[in-house]
Amino acid sequence: MKNPFKYGTIVEDEFFTDRQIELQQIMQAMDSENHLILISPRRFGKSSLITKAVKLLKRPCIIVNLQQVVSAQDLATKLMKEAFKIYKWERIKHHMRHFRIVPTISTNPITDGVDLSFQPRVDTRILLEDVLLLLEHVSTPEHRLIVVLDEFQEIATIEKGLDRQLRAIMQAQQGLNYIFLGSQESMMMEIFEQKKSPFYNFGKLMRLAKIPYADFYDYLMSRMPRKDDNIAKDILTITDCHPYYTQQLASQVWELITYEQLSDNVVDEALDRLTQVHDLDFERLWQGFNRTDKYVMQALCKGENPQGTGSLPTSTVFSSLKRLTKTGYVIRANTYSIEDPFFKRWILQKQV
Ligand SMILES: Nc1ncnc2c1ncn2[C@@H]1O[C@H](COP(=O)(O)OP(=O)(O)OP(=O)(O)O)[C@@H](O)[C@H]1O
Ligand SMILES: [Mg+2]
Repeated sequence: MKNPFKYGTIVEDEFFTDRQIELQQIMQAMDSENHLILISPRRFGKSSLITKAVKLLKRPCIIVNLQQVVSAQDLATKLMKEAFKIYKWERIKHHMRHFRIVPTISTNPITDGVDLSFQPRVDTRILLEDVLLLLEHVSTPEHRLIVVLDEFQEIATIEKGLDRQLRAIMQAQQGLNYIFLGSQESMMMEIFEQKKSPFYNFGKLMRLAKIPYADFYDYLMSRMPRKDDNIAKDILTITDCHPYYTQQLASQVWELITYEQLSDNVVDEALDRLTQVHDLDFERLWQGFNRTDKYVMQALCKGENPQGTGSLPTSTVFSSLKRLTKTGYVIRANTYSIEDPFFKRWILQKQV
């Protein structure tokens, strides 16, 4: 018997649920000359969703995570390396004839892979232009290329002016689609919604929410070894339908029932075990918070509105909420809530 729950990596096939409307919206956007901006907090399922959409569309796709990019030159290099993975060398070589900055290319005879590097300190504007135009040229009308830039909010930290350079090149391009993914909502909004930003209104903006309760409920019920609807309900109450944590908790519950034949308070036991595993990390995280952040986290854990208790000035609480949302400890939907249900349990057990 194999654990039917999966967390931490991209989920596909039988592990993937719901998102029908979002898939439709993404596929429609890709069926045009427009670009897409997809925003959600961490681990809501952006990568899984895009992977599924690309598969359904049967389109070539390259993905670069800007968190792993250290400079404009590095971005150009990584884009080229990804292009080498999906296009034949002969085809790329043909389009590289116009490169003003010629890279050094080596092939690995064992893996058949192609490696590439540029001279240091070249003009990055020209370099990016060469590379992005190459992507445009290898893309064909029948198999239009999709270029995904993950954690795009990092653009601001890589190199000054890089956003302006990219935008200047991209705005003249045709025949390919860009998808910009981001997990820091406020920064993504600054990039795509502020008039003075180079990427203002650059594409269709989509927000990814958690997975709807009814769908996740059915998903859990159909996979649990014991058909007890309290188990599914308890899991979803604790995780509040967060995709990653729901799968993680469900996976632990499944193990307790399957391998340890636990029958009572299974969800509670699973929650406790996962909380204990992270005890040291949580302790360290907690020590790193300042007093206001601790107060705000405690209030949210207890289900109180930290802005309504009157113990601290509203502006101080607001800055703390902003900070905690930016670092991902707090999620803002209609209201603010703690992102990690295990950290929440730990705080309630040890700090309240
Ligand atoms: N459609 C889905 N059905 C079931 N589970 C899902 C779905 N989407 C995401 N998950 C769960 O959430 C986890 C995180 O998904 P994914 O890595 O796609 O999210 P992400 O938003 O790209 O995360 P990150 O911010 O870390 O890049 C998955 O490993 C899986 O457990
Ligand atoms: Mg991702």
